[in-house]
Parts: sequence; structure tokens; C-alpha cells
Amino acid sequence: MARTRLPLIAGNWKMNGLTADALALAKAVAAGVKQGGWTDREVLICPPVTLLMAIAEAVKGSGLLVGGQDCHVKASGACTGDVSAEMLKDVGASHVIVGHSERRTDCGETDAVVRDKAEAAWRAGLLPIVCIGETLAEREAGKAFDVLETQLKGSVPVGATAATLVVAYEPVWAIGTGKTPTTPDVAAAHAHIRKVLGGLVPGAAGVRLLYGGSVKGSNAAELLAAGDVDGALVGGAALKADEFLAIAKAV
Ligand code: PGA
Repeated sequence: MARTRLPLIAGNWKMNGLTADALALAKAVAAGVKQGGWTDREVLICPPVTLLMAIAEAVKGSGLLVGGQDCHVKASGACTGDVSAEMLKDVGASHVIVGHSERRTDCGETDAVVRDKAEAAWRAGLLPIVCIGETLAEREAGKAFDVLETQLKGSVPVGATAATLVVAYEPVWAIGTGKTPTTPDVAAAHAHIRKVLGGLVPGAAGVRLLYGGSVKGSNAAELLAAGDVDGALVGGAALKADEFLAIAKAV
């Protein structure tokens, strides 16, 4: 069946990468993307901000997209240590991840902060990838769908459209653990997310929904074939070019 939404395979490098190895990794991924010559999918890497400029330069012309992992709400100002969406855009980013569970947990980011960051991304001309996902305790308590609904309602800014929003469903318990939900569970969560988006976003049927959490080359085809899954947000497996490209090929 032909896909109506353009799949997106996004790599989140997190706090990994020093210049030499990171440039080599980015170049290897870019070479694979160039060789793929894909027009039926997008491939994105989100390296640490220290390497964004060099990597954006190194992969230019390959078709590989480059994004940030987070941004500040403001465009500039007295915010020591922070990076604005405008700064990411300035060095070649096209996308930015906002509301990753590690930032929600480690940095206390609330839905309202995530929403403001998504708006900051728009202001700078970036496409935000808004992350949501339930913890294991929430899932076991039967509250996963309620949590997803609350996060969506709080994190998706008013005025979002299919062209200005990507949502990533990342069950917290699946991130970096090697555990994944079953494909019916992924499909059910994505169907629920799309239903909730229906009340928030005009043309919600066109919003891309990524699955994230322990995606690797060997499980990508199955996860990407689940209903309403339009791509993947990949952590650990994005740090190996072969593995990440295998996921991109599995679309
Ligand atoms: P993982 O991380 O692929 O290592 O589970 C995913 C993520 O945090 O985006």
C-alpha cells in the first residue's frame, strides 16, 4: 500500500560524539543516503549542538537532513548555556526535537514548556518533533492513553498543521532498554494519538507520527509496518552508520 505521509527516519545522537568520530559517522550516513537517492523518505540526524555546524557542512548535498535535540524558548538573551532555535537554524538545522523524555525527566520540562519550544521552532523556521510517551508505571496502571492525550493537548501548540508538526511516540520504558511494545500495541497507541490530534490539528490525518524506543535494524521493518507509523526516532542505533542506514532502508 502506498504511503500518504512521507516517512521520516530521525537519529538522536544525544550527548555522544567528539569531532573526529562524529564527522566520520555523519559522512558515512550521508554517503548511504546519497546512494539511496530516496525521494520517498527523509533521513535526519540530530547530533550534539557542538558538532551541528561542521556536520551540516560535511553532509551538504547528500540529502541527509540535520537537526537539533532541544532549543530554548527565547530567540536570544540572558540564558547561560542555552541554544535558541534561531541558532540551530543559523548553522544548518531544519528540525528540532522538543520534549524528549530525558529532558522532561532530567530538566523538568513540562508540557507547557514543550509547547513553547515547538512555537520557538516555528518562529525560527524549524520543524519541531514533539515527543510524548508513557512510563512503565503509567502503562501498567492502564493510564497510557490518558497520559498521551494529556501530553498532546499540553504540548502541541495551537495552529499546528500537518506541515508544521511531527509527533514522536516514545514509551519511556522502551528507550535504551532493548524492549519494545508489540506491533499491535504500537499501532493502537498511534491510532489513539491520531484520534486525539484530530481534535487539535486541522488535517490531523497528514501529521507524521514516529515511533521511538529501541528501534534497530532487525526490528525496524516490523515496527515501521505497524498502522499509523510514519517513521522512527532512533537513539542508540543511530550511532552506527550501518545500523541506522538499515533502519532507513527498512521503510
Ligand atoms: P533508543 O532511544 O533508540 O536508544 O531506545 C530512542 C530515543 O531516545 O529517542
